[in-house]
Amino acid sequence: PLAPGAASLRVLVIGSGLAGLIAAVRATDAGHSVTLVTKQGLPDSNTRYAQGGIAAAMFPDDSVDLHILDTLRAGAGLCDPAAVEVLCSEGPARVRDLIRFGVDFDRDDSGVTRGLEAAHSRSRVLHAGGDATGAAIEAALVATVRERAARSEQTPGIPRVRIREHTMLVDLLVAGDRVTGASLLGPDGLVHRVDADAVILATGGAGSLFPHTTNPALATGDGVAAAWRAGALIADLEFYQFHPTALAVPGTPLVSEAVRGEGAVLLNARGERFMLAIHPGAELAPRDIVARSIAREMSAQGGAPVLLDATGLGRELLETRFPTITAACLAAGIDWAVEPIPVAPAAHYWMGGVSTDLWGRTSLPGLYAVGETARTGTHGANRLASNSLLEAAVFADRAVRALGTAPADADRLRVPSMPAFSSTGDATVPAASVDGPGAHVDRTVLQRLMWDAAGVLRDGDGLAAASADLAGWKHPAASGPDATPADRVRAVEDANLLDLARVTVASALAREESRGAHYRADFPESRPELASSQAWVRPVDSDD
Ligand code: SIN
Repeated sequence: PLAPGAASLRVLVIGSGLAGLIAAVRATDAGHSVTLVTKQGLPDSNTRYAQGGIAAAMFPDDSVDLHILDTLRAGAGLCDPAAVEVLCSEGPARVRDLIRFGVDFDRDDSGVTRGLEAAHSRSRVLHAGGDATGAAIEAALVATVRERAARSEQTPGIPRVRIREHTMLVDLLVAGDRVTGASLLGPDGLVHRVDADAVILATGGAGSLFPHTTNPALATGDGVAAAWRAGALIADLEFYQFHPTALAVPGTPLVSEAVRGEGAVLLNARGERFMLAIHPGAELAPRDIVARSIAREMSAQGGAPVLLDATGLGRELLETRFPTITAACLAAGIDWAVEPIPVAPAAHYWMGGVSTDLWGRTSLPGLYAVGETARTGTHGANRLASNSLLEAAVFADRAVRALGTAPADADRLRVPSMPAFSSTGDATVPAASVDGPGAHVDRTVLQRLMWDAAGVLRDGDGLAAASADLAGWKHPAASGPDATPADRVRAVEDANLLDLARVTVASALAREESRGAHYRADFPESRPELASSQAWVRPVDSDD
């Protein structure tokens, strides 16, 4: 219920992964009226595909301090320590909330079971359904939200929850510097406005910037792109995490790091366990190191994927602990209990996004960002495995607690520090337009360009060439009267991908060092003087 004297707000939540669903439930609990909008069906989100689980310091041999240390270490000098402290200290309470919402984490005789993943000093990853953690969380929260929506419809006088599926964010509405709602593309293919006192962006990441991704195709960065076009500060875009082991078959399904946590090993084409010579953690070295090592092995063997040998784990463990991966292997005609599986890196998680303070508040009053859409500072240059679901739960809860409070403190959002980074770069990237010379963006060509120039391994020449190509492309042509609703969705997504590709490439070009997930072959070392974030804001006078 509302605190005495607090106002009931109209809250527009956009996105229905863990972050959006928690925000919707919490905002209702707090007495606000909620409209929850999602691009496809309510359960369709990136959360649903999470395998490894959710990390939290909940076991007797663990501590919040150890979790903080591991998170900071993985983040390669770029985490905001205050955000990491919030994440790790509030994490256990938010995991208990999930249990209350009905998430049934796996147990054995000694209690909740836990997995080990790369760069964790303790086994602290809770999982559900073996490797179906995201699906279990999504199902429990979807049921909770649907139940609230049904109850609010039948019970006059309690805060309303309205669910609008197959409805996509197009742009944010801004009056002065305040976000006042959003324009939305509905299932009928028409754009309409929804006014709100607060907009919470929870639209996930943008794996669709790349041809190989563990994300579903719907991950097109819609919230980050709209926030940027509205003038919000966005940061850390050059830090895109590539998961080392996606199954190298069409659709690139994820092969959880937890498989390596259980003892599976990586082999090159000569059958060598190459990670042993690269890092003392071998297959459980930090994710960026494993992804780069695999990329190099692949390039040395003519592009062929490396192999993940999980045969030593035994059929029973593979089938019970990893049913999702077992099914993906079988669908590809592989029995991973008897043969190694081909794996390759794939775009997985965006550390960057809309800059927020510790309460999900962005640089624009009225606009909040949570989950993968947000850059909270918890992940730095390289997210620690299984910290993403945790971040979504912790900061969605905090964003709701901050609704209606004063705007974010600009200092916490790290105002642009761009010129320090690049010898050649420009601190601004204008929005692409729909008119003028140049070709309309083609998603397949854009994805290939991003993979080649801004993928696991990058260099200045490739990034500069990509930047020039991207500058010559324009948004998709406005949909004609014959366009279907699906055509219109595709056009908005393509415009978003083009805008985000341009800022991402500019960020990667400007950061003349290697750090975490951002590896520049022409600047292979980290430069201590560059250990801070780059933030971007759309120039106010740029074309639309
Ligand atoms: C995985 O299961 O390997 C993914 C976990 C994560 O991305 O945090």
